[in-house]
Amino acid sequence: MRLKHCHNFHDFRTLAKKRLPGPIFNYIDGAADDELTYRRNWQSFDDCDLVPNVLRDVKEIDMSVSVMGQKLDMPIYCSPTALQRIFHHEGEFAVAGAAEKFGTMFGVSSLGTVSLQDIKAKHSNPQAYQFYFHKDRGLNRAMLQKAKEIGIDIMMLTVDTITGGNRERDLRTGFSIPFQLTPASLLQFILKPKWGVNYITHEKFTLPQLDSHVDMSGGAMSIGKYFTEMLDPSMAWDDVAEMVKFWDGEFCLKGIMSVEDARKAVDIGCTGIIISNHGGRQLDGSRSPFDQLAEIVDAVGDDIDVIMDSGIQRGTHVLKALSLGAKAVGGGRFYLFPLAAAGQKGVERALNLMRSEIERGMMLMGCRSISELTRKNLKFR
Ligand code: LAC
Repeated sequence: MRLKHCHNFHDFRTLAKKRLPGPIFNYIDGAADDELTYRRNWQSFDDCDLVPNVLRDVKEIDMSVSVMGQKLDMPIYCSPTALQRIFHHEGEFAVAGAAEKFGTMFGVSSLGTVSLQDIKAKHSNPQAYQFYFHKDRGLNRAMLQKAKEIGIDIMMLTVDTITGGNRERDLRTGFSIPFQLTPASLLQFILKPKWGVNYITHEKFTLPQLDSHVDMSGGAMSIGKYFTEMLDPSMAWDDVAEMVKFWDGEFCLKGIMSVEDARKAVDIGCTGIIISNHGGRQLDGSRSPFDQLAEIVDAVGDDIDVIMDSGIQRGTHVLKALSLGAKAVGGGRFYLFPLAAAGQKGVERALNLMRSEIERGMMLMGCRSISELTRKNLKFR
């Protein structure tokens, strides 16, 4: 199987699985506990059907959206995700470059493997910074200040990682950062020598957003351990209100699931919320963002930009979310498997397929612009 044979999410996933050592594939593909929420995230889109209109002159399709002060040429963006250079040596640069070609936004994680400023210097499309709130308040302040100076467009505070999710696949494979070879995982890597050669022959793995503050040289740390040991479980609304004030710009909370919290986000001056359960990687049994979307849009949709992520695999998933009132949607695995499979070319192919699917879907729905997608276009069974 090759990149040109990839026509959807599942094809990219299969190719990524073929190319990545087992522990790395399973880190991307895995989720928490029984992975119930991970599956529900995309299954929830099947509970409703699109109701098309016809004969509406759909020669010209405009799928651009405005969200948190940014104009995006397409309504889906690449959510910030950790450790991208482990998946493919081109890492964050590949994702930013592909997103730029398609006129959409991308994000860099606190656990990103390329520095915010290097990527900002190279790419002009909107850039979000996925921020983790650490126990060390000095570190938080320094990270915010630096991001301000660099000119990051959107601050995206992750609020659903107050402790590490139970990723049992990672426990089994021993996946950790920085990447460590253990006797148990060695075979997995011997089986994928091409990945190993690429990893060794490219720039050394680092976490530039954290390196100057956190000593990662003392040994491997699992993602769960990072969340549990480094991040601050006492983070509360007052802390975030202070951050929002200090940032004084586009600020969104990623991982809001309840109407109550959505209202609080409005109260403290956030400009956006991302309804998300972290791709099912944190609280298993949590409701899917798509299932929560309508209620949250009804409550705060006029006061704040409501976005959702988790489970998006198809253009029609995007259309369903937008019909319910989301301003845009984000996705992680939809570009991570393509990144792992083929670097920037892979991400470009995924975005291109997504754009075609959205465009085709809109034509078949009789919608020329995103504003024509409304709840009239959707029926729950
Ligand atoms: C994860 C974090 C790092 O889900 O976003 O693995």
